[in-house]
Amino acid sequence: MKIASRMAQIAPFHVMELMARAQALEAAGKSIIHFEVGEPDFATAEPILDAAQRFLSRGHVHYTAALGLPKLREAISTHYSSRYGLEVSPQRIVVTAGASGALLLALGALVDPGDEWLLPDPGYPCNRHFVRLLEGLPVSLAVDATTNYQPTATQVEASWTDRTRGLLVASPANPTGTLLDRQTMASLADTVARHGGTLLVDEIYHGLTYGVDAMSALAISDEAFVINSFSKYFGMTGWRLGWLVAPERHVREIEKLAQNLYIAPSTVAQHAALAAFDRETTAILEARREEFSRRQNVLLPGLQKLGFKIAAKPQGAFYVYAESSALATDSTLLAQRLLTEAGVAATPGLDFGINAPQSHMRFAYTIERERIEEGLARMATVLKSG
Ligand SMILES: Cc1ncc(COP(=O)(O)O)c(C=O)c1O
Repeated sequence: MKIASRMAQIAPFHVMELMARAQALEAAGKSIIHFEVGEPDFATAEPILDAAQRFLSRGHVHYTAALGLPKLREAISTHYSSRYGLEVSPQRIVVTAGASGALLLALGALVDPGDEWLLPDPGYPCNRHFVRLLEGLPVSLAVDATTNYQPTATQVEASWTDRTRGLLVASPANPTGTLLDRQTMASLADTVARHGGTLLVDEIYHGLTYGVDAMSALAISDEAFVINSFSKYFGMTGWRLGWLVAPERHVREIEKLAQNLYIAPSTVAQHAALAAFDRETTAILEARREEFSRRQNVLLPGLQKLGFKIAAKPQGAFYVYAESSALATDSTLLAQRLLTEAGVAATPGLDFGINAPQSHMRFAYTIERERIEEGLARMATVLKSG
């Protein structure tokens, strides 16, 4: 039996493995503070649960159309007009199995074997594996704090070759929480368009910003493919629901892929998500966003006090990307040490690319403030002991 050779280049999602190790330690009775988890810790908001329960009580749970429930596509379209003042036709909106499903559909429709795709590094790890799975070539664009951990048009221009087909960015980004400002987004869109390429923008952390608003790439270009999800701001990770906005002329291709890959997104999740934009839900989600902001205000200075350096203040998401070189030469070993000696789980840079991973770690503030404080205290004890 032979495994496809591409599998050699598809790395595990290390954070999932670290989570599993942390959970195993917990099962063995050890107390663990979880800074590694990339999902909100809150329960699904009550109005969303109620909508799901109402739907389930009727007992009919069948497939929906591959592009999603028309009512949900309309609700997402209304979200673009009420939140961003943008006209986005429901015809351009594809409901998917999470942002993961949206990324796979968009890249599945766009990537040919041998195509190069530019991906900021550090960045969300699964992207390069999606490109690789489709026989494309992920190209790492090293970004750092001097450009807010986002690529610039000059850098994209310099990295573009005859084989380059597109650029995939995220704003707010994972692992850094940094945003693309309007001017940078516009110049990136412009550069990509000039080369006849495609711009994909992952807006999964929209809604979770602190003191600034994230702008949608759709305000700049109707040619961009925009990915979003109910996972993060809407707190629905386990429901596996997201969406893709694509140029209308490509939607039929994406529909064919969705039909073949998974038939339709989860029906229960879609009915639940119909309540995600209600006023009552928004009030709950906004209170949670404020709590995330308070948590960041505890974690970020706490990490700095321990000797981590935070070179660019996160503006969104729920992560702090911290430089660890003053504390250890290898962040993977540091993560292991913190887990075994302090019972603190955090993600080493390794997951996010090849650009200085050994000197960075990602801390998620998806736990209560008291737990954050406890985690900081535990780390202080271990780090002081050398
Ligand atoms: C930047 C980014 N994109 C996509 C995803 C996938 O999210 P989901 O499939 O849960 O919507 C994640 C998850 O952490 C992420 O951080």
